Amino acid sequence: MNEHDSERIAGLLEAEGLLSVSEESDADVIVLNTCCIRENADNKLYGTLGHLKTWKDSREGRQIVVAGCLSQKDKDVVQARAKWVDVVLGTHNVHRTAELLEHSRSNGPITEIYDEAVEDDHVLFPSALPARRETTYNAWVTIQIGCDNTCAYCIVPSVRGKEISRQPEDIVDEVRRLADLGVTEVTLLGQNVNSYGRDLTLAERQAGGDVRVRPLFADLLRNVGTVPGIKRVRYTSPHPKDMKSDVIAAMAETPSVCEHLHYPLQSGSDRVLALMHRGYTAQRYLERLAEARAAMPDIAITTDIIVGFPGETEEDFVRTLEVAAEANFDSTFTFIFSPRDGTEAATMTEHFVEPSVIADRFDRLRVVVERSALLLHEARAGRIEEIVVEGPNRKRDGHFTGRTRQNKLVHFASQQALRPGTYGTVEITRGAPHFLEGIFREVLAEPTHRVRIPVAVAGH
Ligand code: 5AD
Ligand code: SF4
Repeated sequence: MNEHDSERIAGLLEAEGLLSVSEESDADVIVLNTCCIRENADNKLYGTLGHLKTWKDSREGRQIVVAGCLSQKDKDVVQARAKWVDVVLGTHNVHRTAELLEHSRSNGPITEIYDEAVEDDHVLFPSALPARRETTYNAWVTIQIGCDNTCAYCIVPSVRGKEISRQPEDIVDEVRRLADLGVTEVTLLGQNVNSYGRDLTLAERQAGGDVRVRPLFADLLRNVGTVPGIKRVRYTSPHPKDMKSDVIAAMAETPSVCEHLHYPLQSGSDRVLALMHRGYTAQRYLERLAEARAAMPDIAITTDIIVGFPGETEEDFVRTLEVAAEANFDSTFTFIFSPRDGTEAATMTEHFVEPSVIADRFDRLRVVVERSALLLHEARAGRIEEIVVEGPNRKRDGHFTGRTRQNKLVHFASQQALRPGTYGTVEITRGAPHFLEGIFREVLAEPTHRVRIPVAVAGH
């Protein structure tokens, strides 16, 4: 979500005539888009700002912007601690970046944080803004902002606000426009995508409207999936407590929806899951997973796991190992619990787990996941897989990297040069825990995007 916001900020500034440069010394404006979901973003930010003071002082007219979750949380603190910051904005007023920069040029430093994403009854979806995309064949599309859950460890609800769904027609419209620009892969973004539309249905009902109007996530997947030109649809992230059979069916029945499910487990212990307020048990999680695999036998499953949630015992952790082994994950993002100010878990200080114990658990989990990943990847040797080319492999001449529909990274040899965004087939020769290797076979489709998308997608 933050990276997507960064694209929007960059896109807005480009629309104002600014150019992106790769060297700090060439820049007139630096934007720091912060994320505070884990680790000490604060320390990093103020350290970086200290260093940027020298950068700013060394040339007249230079400006610094701080955006994102951390400024949303800290509000005036940013400029109180770093007076040389010109503009501070939050997660809900990304669209104001250029105006605030202009304003501060004549009027000095400014902090502007909106408490919520609604202004004059109008929801400010960043997707309605121009974007500067790093790659041009795939694009993120925001379908929902905010989160109504109360996971005990998580700061997102407090910095991203309540859950608001974007109108389904607007989403499909944006995907159509992206397809017209040659984008072939979209990733639908939301904190809790399978509760998408709940707020819209509720609003319809309150307005006395047709209660059958239920823009649910499964319908959205089907509608996005049939936009001409879109070959791959992904989404992130679903919440296991809201995962329903209709979403699994929509995935299985829509050919463009990729065989990949990112399905955050967080912990395998029911006791810890309850402390986290996750709303499901390990058993239920595994049942849904079995249902997804029954519907899509070749689906890859990835997950998020937090190690060292306050009060996590050895027994709890062993349950996580057992559930991870049973889930047979293709890969996991494993995070060390990081206390975030203002969250429930941050107050459970007397139950914090020793860092050395966490480090040990982290390693044990890695071993379990790498084992399942390696077996799954080795089993793919000999198969012909569809890939989209990401680019040349910088370390090996004549080699490229690409992604399979399962979202696996493939390193492969090719006689012919291949442009990013090319679809082709690769024969898989080897599987490693974190990637596949193969040999390029044939081009299925040349890239259709323009070399550079200047300013994308307006609309609300
Ligand atoms: N500490 C560690 N990991 C966290 N995550 C969210 N908040 C925290 C935290 N305080 C992880 C969760 C989530 C992922 C995006 O980040 O696993 O799924
Ligand atoms: Fe955070 Fe839980 Fe919402 Fe995900 S579902 S953003 S972990 S509160």
